[in-house]
Amino acid sequence: MKSLNVGIIGYGFMGRAHSNAFRRVNNFFPLNHQVILKAACGRDAARTRAFADTWGYESVETDWKRLIARDDIDLIDIAAPNNVHAEIALAAARAGKMILCEKPLGMNAAESLTMVKAVEKAKVPNMVWYNYRRIPAVTLAKQLIDEGKLGKVFHYRAKFLQDWTINADVPQGGPGTWRLDVKVAGSGVTGDLLAHCIDTALWLNGGIASVSGMTETFVKERPHALTGRKQKVGIDDASAFLARFNNGSLATFEATRYARGHKALYVFEINGEHASIVWDLHDLHRLQYFDHRDTGNVRGWRSIHVSDGDHPYMKAWWVPGLQIGYEHSFVHQVADFIQGIETGKSAAPTFRDGLATDLVTDAILKSAKSGRWEKVRKG
Ligand SMILES: NC(=O)c1ccc[n+]([C@@H]2O[C@H](COP(=O)([O-])OP(=O)(O)OC[C@H]3O[C@@H](n4cnc5c(N)ncnc54)[C@H](O)[C@@H]3O)[C@@H](O)[C@H]2O)c1
Repeated sequence: MKSLNVGIIGYGFMGRAHSNAFRRVNNFFPLNHQVILKAACGRDAARTRAFADTWGYESVETDWKRLIARDDIDLIDIAAPNNVHAEIALAAARAGKMILCEKPLGMNAAESLTMVKAVEKAKVPNMVWYNYRRIPAVTLAKQLIDEGKLGKVFHYRAKFLQDWTINADVPQGGPGTWRLDVKVAGSGVTGDLLAHCIDTALWLNGGIASVSGMTETFVKERPHALTGRKQKVGIDDASAFLARFNNGSLATFEATRYARGHKALYVFEINGEHASIVWDLHDLHRLQYFDHRDTGNVRGWRSIHVSDGDHPYMKAWWVPGLQIGYEHSFVHQVADFIQGIETGKSAAPTFRDGLATDLVTDAILKSAKSGRWEKVRKG
Protein backbone atom coordinates (compact mmCIF):
# COMPACT_ATOMS: atom_id res chain seq x y z
CA MET A 1 0.00 0.00 0.00
CA LYS A 2 1.31 3.45 -0.91
CA SER A 3 0.34 6.46 1.18
CA LEU A 4 -1.58 9.38 -0.28
CA ASN A 5 -1.06 12.34 2.03
CA VAL A 6 -3.89 14.85 1.84
CA GLY A 7 -3.79 18.52 2.80
CA ILE A 8 -7.23 20.13 2.78
CA ILE A 9 -7.93 23.88 2.61
CA GLY A 10 -11.28 24.93 4.10
CA TYR A 11 -13.27 23.33 6.90
CA GLY A 12 -16.81 24.33 5.95
CA PHE A 13 -19.56 22.35 4.22
CA MET A 14 -17.30 20.87 1.56
CA GLY A 15 -14.39 20.47 3.98
CA ARG A 16 -16.62 18.06 5.91
CA ALA A 17 -17.99 16.28 2.81
CA HIS A 18 -14.49 15.72 1.42
CA SER A 19 -13.03 14.64 4.78
CA ASN A 20 -15.79 12.08 5.20
CA ALA A 21 -14.96 10.74 1.73
CA PHE A 22 -11.22 10.57 2.42
CA ARG A 23 -11.87 8.69 5.67
CA ARG A 24 -14.25 6.14 4.22
CA VAL A 25 -12.85 5.39 0.79
CA ASN A 26 -10.36 2.71 1.89
CA ASN A 27 -13.03 0.93 3.92
CA PHE A 28 -15.23 0.35 0.88
CA PHE A 29 -13.03 0.41 -2.24
CA PRO A 30 -10.03 -1.85 -2.90
CA LEU A 31 -7.22 0.58 -3.74
CA ASN A 32 -3.45 0.48 -3.73
CA HIS A 33 -3.24 3.81 -1.93
CA GLN A 34 -4.08 4.48 1.70
CA VAL A 35 -5.45 7.99 2.21
CA ILE A 36 -3.74 9.75 5.11
CA LEU A 37 -5.36 12.90 6.51
CA LYS A 38 -2.08 14.75 6.91
CA ALA A 39 -3.04 18.39 7.41
CA ALA A 40 -6.05 20.69 7.61
CA CYS A 41 -5.66 24.34 6.70
CA GLY A 42 -7.85 27.30 7.67
CA ARG A 43 -7.19 30.88 8.67
CA ASP A 44 -8.59 30.55 12.20
CA ALA A 45 -6.18 28.38 14.21
CA ALA A 46 -8.64 27.29 16.93
CA ARG A 47 -11.39 26.36 14.47
CA THR A 48 -8.98 24.56 12.19
CA ARG A 49 -7.64 22.60 15.18
CA ALA A 50 -11.19 21.65 16.21
CA PHE A 51 -11.93 20.51 12.66
CA ALA A 52 -8.67 18.55 12.50
CA ASP A 53 -9.51 16.82 15.79
CA THR A 54 -13.03 15.94 14.67
CA TRP A 55 -11.91 14.38 11.39
CA GLY A 56 -8.54 12.99 12.42
CA TYR A 57 -6.09 15.25 10.56
CA GLU A 58 -2.57 14.86 11.93
CA SER A 59 -1.62 18.54 11.81
CA VAL A 60 -2.86 22.07 11.23
CA GLU A 61 -1.77 25.01 9.07
CA THR A 62 -3.18 28.54 9.02
CA ASP A 63 -1.59 29.63 5.72
CA TRP A 64 -2.20 27.57 2.58
CA LYS A 65 1.20 28.60 1.20
CA ARG A 66 2.87 26.77 4.09
CA LEU A 67 0.71 23.73 3.41
CA ILE A 68 1.76 23.65 -0.23
CA ALA A 69 5.43 24.08 0.72
CA ARG A 70 5.36 20.91 2.84
CA ASP A 71 7.19 17.88 1.41
CA ASP A 72 4.91 15.44 3.20
CA ILE A 73 1.77 16.53 1.29
CA ASP A 74 0.95 14.73 -1.99
CA LEU A 75 -2.49 16.12 -2.72
CA ILE A 76 -3.96 19.58 -2.16
CA ASP A 77 -7.75 19.63 -1.77
CA ILE A 78 -9.30 23.07 -2.33
CA ALA A 79 -12.54 23.33 -0.35
CA ALA A 80 -12.47 27.12 0.04
CA PRO A 81 -14.57 29.81 -1.71
CA ASN A 82 -14.28 30.44 -5.44
CA ASN A 83 -12.05 33.54 -5.35
CA VAL A 84 -9.09 31.58 -3.95
CA HIS A 85 -9.32 28.47 -6.17
CA ALA A 86 -6.99 29.78 -8.90
CA GLU A 87 -4.25 31.21 -6.72
CA ILE A 88 -4.05 28.03 -4.65
CA ALA A 89 -4.24 25.70 -7.65
CA LEU A 90 -1.50 27.55 -9.55
CA ALA A 91 0.82 27.37 -6.55
CA ALA A 92 -0.01 23.71 -5.92
CA ALA A 93 0.66 22.81 -9.56
CA ARG A 94 4.01 24.63 -9.45
CA ALA A 95 4.87 22.55 -6.38
CA GLY A 96 3.98 19.35 -8.27
CA LYS A 97 1.03 18.42 -6.03
CA MET A 98 -2.04 16.52 -7.18
CA ILE A 99 -5.07 18.81 -6.95
CA LEU A 100 -8.73 18.32 -6.21
CA CYS A 101 -10.62 21.60 -6.57
CA GLU A 102 -14.17 22.53 -5.71
CA LYS A 103 -16.51 23.90 -8.35
CA PRO A 104 -16.80 26.24 -10.17
CA LEU A 105 -13.18 25.79 -11.18
CA GLY A 106 -12.41 29.52 -11.50
CA MET A 107 -14.20 32.85 -11.11
CA ASN A 108 -14.66 32.82 -14.91
CA ALA A 109 -13.40 30.85 -17.91
CA ALA A 110 -10.29 33.01 -18.40
CA GLU A 111 -9.18 32.22 -14.86
CA SER A 112 -10.05 28.54 -15.28
CA LEU A 113 -7.93 28.38 -18.43
CA THR A 114 -4.85 29.48 -16.46
CA MET A 115 -5.57 26.65 -14.01
CA VAL A 116 -5.91 24.09 -16.82
CA LYS A 117 -2.64 25.24 -18.36
CA ALA A 118 -0.88 25.05 -14.99
CA VAL A 119 -1.92 21.46 -14.18
CA GLU A 120 -1.31 20.26 -17.74
CA LYS A 121 2.16 21.85 -17.79
CA ALA A 122 3.01 20.35 -14.39
CA LYS A 123 1.41 17.00 -15.42
CA VAL A 124 -0.26 16.65 -12.02
CA PRO A 125 -3.44 14.59 -11.58
CA ASN A 126 -6.39 16.96 -11.18
CA MET A 127 -10.12 16.82 -10.71
CA VAL A 128 -13.09 19.13 -10.03
CA TRP A 129 -15.64 18.12 -7.41
CA TYR A 130 -18.72 17.88 -9.64
CA ASN A 131 -19.93 15.09 -7.40
CA TYR A 132 -23.42 14.60 -8.86
CA ARG A 133 -21.93 12.54 -11.69
CA ARG A 134 -21.23 9.85 -9.11
CA ILE A 135 -24.62 9.45 -7.57
CA PRO A 136 -25.33 5.89 -8.79
CA ALA A 137 -28.65 6.80 -10.42
CA VAL A 138 -26.94 9.59 -12.41
CA THR A 139 -24.10 7.26 -13.40
CA LEU A 140 -26.75 4.73 -14.48
CA ALA A 141 -28.33 7.43 -16.67
CA LYS A 142 -24.93 7.87 -18.34
CA GLN A 143 -24.66 4.10 -18.93
CA LEU A 144 -28.14 3.91 -20.47
CA ILE A 145 -27.34 6.82 -22.78
CA ASP A 146 -23.98 5.34 -23.79
CA GLU A 147 -25.69 2.01 -24.53
CA GLY A 148 -27.92 3.90 -26.98
CA LYS A 149 -31.14 3.18 -25.04
CA LEU A 150 -32.48 6.69 -25.60
CA GLY A 151 -31.58 6.90 -29.29
CA LYS A 152 -31.41 10.38 -30.74
CA VAL A 153 -31.88 12.96 -27.99
CA PHE A 154 -34.40 15.73 -28.63
CA HIS A 155 -34.66 17.51 -25.29
CA TYR A 156 -32.60 18.17 -22.15
CA ARG A 157 -34.25 19.96 -19.22
CA ALA A 158 -32.70 20.84 -15.88
CA LYS A 159 -33.43 23.01 -12.88
CA PHE A 160 -31.80 23.66 -9.52
CA LEU A 161 -34.05 25.56 -7.11
CA GLN A 162 -33.46 26.96 -3.62
CA ASP A 163 -35.19 29.58 -1.46
CA TRP A 164 -32.68 30.84 1.13
CA THR A 165 -32.01 34.42 -0.04
CA ILE A 166 -35.57 35.76 -0.43
CA ASN A 167 -35.30 37.85 2.76
CA ALA A 168 -33.61 41.18 1.93
CA ASP A 169 -31.94 41.18 5.36
CA VAL A 170 -29.70 38.23 4.42
CA PRO A 171 -26.27 39.89 4.18
CA GLN A 172 -23.62 39.50 1.51
CA GLY A 173 -19.98 38.64 2.14
CA GLY A 174 -18.40 37.23 5.29
CA PRO A 175 -17.94 33.59 6.24
CA GLY A 176 -21.56 32.37 5.94
CA THR A 177 -22.80 34.42 2.99
CA TRP A 178 -19.81 34.77 0.67
CA ARG A 179 -21.97 33.30 -2.14
CA LEU A 180 -23.87 36.60 -2.29
CA ASP A 181 -20.70 38.67 -2.76
CA VAL A 182 -19.71 38.75 -6.43
CA LYS A 183 -16.07 39.50 -5.57
CA VAL A 184 -15.84 36.14 -3.78
CA ALA A 185 -18.31 34.02 -5.75
CA GLY A 186 -17.66 35.30 -9.30
CA SER A 187 -21.37 35.05 -10.13
CA GLY A 188 -24.60 34.04 -8.42
CA VAL A 189 -26.69 30.98 -9.16
CA THR A 190 -25.16 30.69 -12.64
CA GLY A 191 -21.74 29.62 -11.32
CA ASP A 192 -23.11 28.04 -8.16
CA LEU A 193 -26.18 25.99 -9.08
CA LEU A 194 -26.36 26.01 -12.88
CA ALA A 195 -22.72 24.93 -12.99
CA HIS A 196 -23.79 21.57 -11.52
CA CYS A 197 -26.60 21.22 -14.08
CA ILE A 198 -24.22 22.13 -16.90
CA ASP A 199 -21.50 19.70 -15.84
CA THR A 200 -24.00 16.84 -15.71
CA ALA A 201 -25.50 17.89 -19.04
CA LEU A 202 -22.15 18.11 -20.86
CA TRP A 203 -21.31 14.66 -19.53
CA LEU A 204 -24.65 13.08 -20.47
CA ASN A 205 -25.50 14.91 -23.67
CA GLY A 206 -22.24 16.33 -25.09
CA GLY A 207 -21.19 19.90 -25.84
CA ILE A 208 -23.40 22.99 -25.90
CA ALA A 209 -23.08 25.15 -29.05
CA SER A 210 -25.00 28.31 -28.11
CA VAL A 211 -27.14 29.80 -25.35
CA SER A 212 -29.69 32.51 -24.76
CA GLY A 213 -29.76 33.53 -21.12
CA MET A 214 -31.57 35.84 -18.73
CA THR A 215 -30.64 36.70 -15.17
CA GLU A 216 -32.20 38.82 -12.44
CA THR A 217 -31.04 40.29 -9.17
CA PHE A 218 -34.24 40.64 -7.15
CA VAL A 219 -32.65 42.29 -4.10
CA LYS A 220 -30.48 45.12 -5.37
CA GLU A 221 -28.71 46.08 -2.12
CA ARG A 222 -27.71 44.05 0.89
CA PRO A 223 -25.72 44.84 4.05
CA HIS A 224 -22.19 43.45 4.08
CA ALA A 225 -21.81 40.79 6.79
CA LEU A 226 -18.52 42.26 8.02
CA THR A 227 -19.20 46.02 7.89
CA GLY A 228 -23.01 46.20 8.13
CA ARG A 229 -22.93 48.76 5.30
CA LYS A 230 -25.45 48.38 2.48
CA GLN A 231 -23.81 47.62 -0.84
CA LYS A 232 -25.00 46.98 -4.37
CA VAL A 233 -25.55 43.28 -5.04
CA GLY A 234 -23.45 42.05 -7.98
CA ILE A 235 -24.59 38.44 -8.23
CA ASP A 236 -27.46 36.98 -10.24
CA ASP A 237 -30.23 35.73 -7.92
CA ALA A 238 -31.94 33.78 -10.69
CA SER A 239 -30.72 32.56 -14.06
CA ALA A 240 -32.40 30.71 -16.90
CA PHE A 241 -31.19 29.83 -20.36
CA LEU A 242 -32.10 28.10 -23.58
CA ALA A 243 -29.40 26.01 -25.23
CA ARG A 244 -28.67 24.17 -28.43
CA PHE A 245 -26.46 21.12 -28.00
CA ASN A 246 -24.00 20.01 -30.68
CA ASN A 247 -26.10 16.83 -31.14
CA GLY A 248 -29.07 18.94 -32.26
CA SER A 249 -31.09 18.67 -29.06
CA LEU A 250 -32.80 21.67 -27.46
CA ALA A 251 -32.53 22.48 -23.77
CA THR A 252 -33.92 24.64 -20.99
CA PHE A 253 -32.10 25.26 -17.72
CA GLU A 254 -33.18 27.25 -14.67
CA ALA A 255 -31.69 28.05 -11.26
CA THR A 256 -32.82 30.36 -8.51
CA ARG A 257 -32.60 30.99 -4.78
CA TYR A 258 -36.14 32.47 -4.83
CA ALA A 259 -38.31 29.36 -5.28
CA ARG A 260 -40.16 29.30 -1.96
CA GLY A 261 -40.30 25.79 -0.53
CA HIS A 262 -37.36 24.39 -2.47
CA LYS A 263 -34.09 23.76 -0.63
CA ALA A 264 -32.05 21.85 -3.20
CA LEU A 265 -34.36 20.70 -5.95
CA TYR A 266 -32.05 19.50 -8.70
CA VAL A 267 -33.95 17.70 -11.42
CA PHE A 268 -33.04 16.78 -14.98
CA GLU A 269 -35.05 15.11 -17.74
CA ILE A 270 -33.86 13.81 -21.08
CA ASN A 271 -36.21 12.84 -23.91
CA GLY A 272 -34.86 10.62 -26.67
CA GLU A 273 -36.45 8.97 -29.67
CA HIS A 274 -36.90 5.62 -27.85
CA ALA A 275 -36.81 6.46 -24.16
CA SER A 276 -36.83 9.18 -21.53
CA ILE A 277 -35.16 9.49 -18.14
CA VAL A 278 -35.77 11.72 -15.15
CA TRP A 279 -33.62 12.15 -12.05
CA ASP A 280 -34.46 14.14 -8.93
CA LEU A 281 -31.96 14.92 -6.14
CA HIS A 282 -34.74 14.65 -3.54
CA ASP A 283 -35.17 11.02 -4.56
CA LEU A 284 -31.54 10.49 -5.51
CA HIS A 285 -31.45 6.70 -5.40
CA ARG A 286 -34.14 6.39 -8.08
CA LEU A 287 -34.03 6.80 -11.85
CA GLN A 288 -37.31 7.24 -13.69
CA TYR A 289 -37.21 5.48 -17.06
CA PHE A 290 -39.76 5.17 -19.86
CA ASP A 291 -39.05 2.93 -22.84
CA HIS A 292 -41.39 3.16 -25.82
CA ARG A 293 -40.10 -0.22 -27.07
CA ASP A 294 -41.78 -2.06 -24.20
CA THR A 295 -44.86 -4.00 -25.26
CA GLY A 296 -47.93 -1.78 -25.07
CA ASN A 297 -49.66 -3.59 -22.22
CA VAL A 298 -46.77 -2.94 -19.79
CA ARG A 299 -45.45 0.29 -21.29
CA GLY A 300 -45.14 3.06 -18.72
CA TRP A 301 -42.76 4.94 -16.47
CA ARG A 302 -40.69 2.65 -14.27
CA SER A 303 -38.97 3.83 -11.14
CA ILE A 304 -35.63 2.04 -10.88
CA HIS A 305 -34.44 1.72 -7.30
CA VAL A 306 -30.70 2.04 -7.98
CA SER A 307 -29.51 -0.22 -5.19
CA ASP A 308 -28.66 -3.55 -6.81
CA GLY A 309 -25.23 -5.08 -7.26
CA ASP A 310 -25.55 -4.49 -11.03
CA HIS A 311 -25.86 -0.76 -10.49
CA PRO A 312 -22.87 1.62 -10.56
CA TYR A 313 -20.86 1.69 -7.33
CA MET A 314 -23.48 -0.30 -5.38
CA LYS A 315 -21.50 -3.52 -5.04
CA ALA A 316 -19.08 -1.63 -2.80
CA TRP A 317 -21.78 -0.84 -0.23
CA TRP A 318 -24.52 -2.89 1.43
CA VAL A 319 -26.75 -5.75 0.31
CA PRO A 320 -29.09 -5.23 -2.69
CA GLY A 321 -32.08 -3.03 -1.92
CA LEU A 322 -30.38 -0.82 0.65
CA GLN A 323 -29.80 2.69 -0.58
CA ILE A 324 -26.99 5.17 -0.08
CA GLY A 325 -27.01 8.98 -0.03
CA TYR A 326 -25.50 12.31 -0.98
CA GLU A 327 -22.20 11.90 0.87
CA HIS A 328 -21.38 8.68 -0.98
CA SER A 329 -20.97 10.55 -4.27
CA PHE A 330 -17.85 12.17 -2.77
CA VAL A 331 -16.50 8.77 -1.67
CA HIS A 332 -16.99 7.51 -5.24
CA GLN A 333 -15.18 10.53 -6.59
CA VAL A 334 -12.13 9.94 -4.39
CA ALA A 335 -12.16 6.22 -5.29
CA ASP A 336 -12.22 7.00 -9.02
CA PHE A 337 -9.54 9.67 -8.65
CA ILE A 338 -7.21 7.22 -6.93
CA GLN A 339 -7.98 4.49 -9.47
CA GLY A 340 -7.09 7.07 -12.13
CA ILE A 341 -3.69 7.61 -10.53
CA GLU A 342 -3.15 3.86 -10.33
CA THR A 343 -4.15 3.09 -13.91
CA GLY A 344 -2.77 6.27 -15.48
CA LYS A 345 -6.25 7.07 -16.87
CA SER A 346 -7.30 10.42 -15.39
CA ALA A 347 -10.76 10.29 -13.90
CA ALA A 348 -13.15 13.02 -15.03
CA PRO A 349 -14.12 15.76 -14.51
CA THR A 350 -10.59 17.07 -14.90
CA PHE A 351 -9.77 20.79 -14.77
CA ARG A 352 -10.28 20.82 -18.56
CA ASP A 353 -13.83 19.50 -18.04
CA GLY A 354 -14.35 22.15 -15.36
CA LEU A 355 -13.27 24.79 -17.87
CA ALA A 356 -15.91 23.50 -20.32
CA THR A 357 -18.62 24.31 -17.76
CA ASP A 358 -17.16 27.75 -17.09
CA LEU A 359 -17.18 28.52 -20.83
CA VAL A 360 -20.93 27.84 -20.82
CA THR A 361 -21.57 29.96 -17.69
CA ASP A 362 -19.57 32.81 -19.27
CA ALA A 363 -21.73 32.58 -22.40
CA ILE A 364 -24.95 32.65 -20.32
CA LEU A 365 -23.86 35.79 -18.44
CA LYS A 366 -22.75 37.42 -21.70
CA SER A 367 -26.09 36.61 -23.34
CA ALA A 368 -28.04 37.92 -20.34
CA LYS A 369 -26.24 41.25 -20.82
CA SER A 370 -26.34 41.42 -24.62
CA GLY A 371 -29.90 40.12 -25.00
CA ARG A 372 -28.64 37.94 -27.86
CA TRP A 373 -27.85 34.29 -28.46
CA GLU A 374 -24.15 33.72 -27.73
CA LYS A 375 -21.89 30.96 -29.00
CA VAL A 376 -20.02 28.95 -26.36
CA ARG A 377 -16.32 29.63 -26.89
CA LYS A 378 -13.90 26.71 -27.30
CA GLY A 379 -11.42 26.14 -24.46
N1 LIG B 1 -19.70 20.05 -4.98
C1 LIG B 1 -20.74 20.62 -4.37
O1 LIG B 1 -21.84 20.14 -4.43
C2 LIG B 1 -20.52 21.87 -3.58
C3 LIG B 1 -21.40 22.19 -2.53
C4 LIG B 1 -21.13 23.33 -1.77
C5 LIG B 1 -20.04 24.13 -2.06
N2 LIG B 1 -19.24 23.81 -3.12
C6 LIG B 1 -18.04 24.63 -3.42
O2 LIG B 1 -17.08 24.37 -2.39
C7 LIG B 1 -16.35 25.56 -2.08
C8 LIG B 1 -16.50 25.85 -0.59
O3 LIG B 1 -17.89 25.98 -0.31
P1 LIG B 1 -18.48 25.62 1.15
O4 LIG B 1 -19.96 25.50 1.01
O5 LIG B 1 -17.72 24.50 1.74
O6 LIG B 1 -18.14 26.97 1.89
P2 LIG B 1 -18.02 27.22 3.46
O7 LIG B 1 -18.24 28.68 3.63
O8 LIG B 1 -18.87 26.26 4.21
O9 LIG B 1 -16.50 26.86 3.77
C9 LIG B 1 -15.43 27.57 3.18
C10 LIG B 1 -14.17 27.32 3.98
O10 LIG B 1 -13.08 27.97 3.32
C11 LIG B 1 -12.30 28.67 4.31
N3 LIG B 1 -11.54 29.72 3.65
C12 LIG B 1 -12.00 30.84 3.06
N4 LIG B 1 -10.96 31.56 2.58
C13 LIG B 1 -9.82 30.88 2.88
C14 LIG B 1 -8.44 31.11 2.68
N5 LIG B 1 -8.01 32.20 2.06
N6 LIG B 1 -7.55 30.19 3.15
C15 LIG B 1 -7.97 29.09 3.80
N7 LIG B 1 -9.28 28.82 4.01
C16 LIG B 1 -10.19 29.70 3.57
C17 LIG B 1 -13.36 29.14 5.29
O11 LIG B 1 -12.80 29.50 6.52
C18 LIG B 1 -14.23 27.88 5.38
O12 LIG B 1 -13.64 26.93 6.25
C19 LIG B 1 -16.90 26.63 -3.01
O13 LIG B 1 -16.10 26.73 -4.14
C20 LIG B 1 -18.28 26.11 -3.39
O14 LIG B 1 -18.73 26.59 -4.63
C21 LIG B 1 -19.46 22.69 -3.86
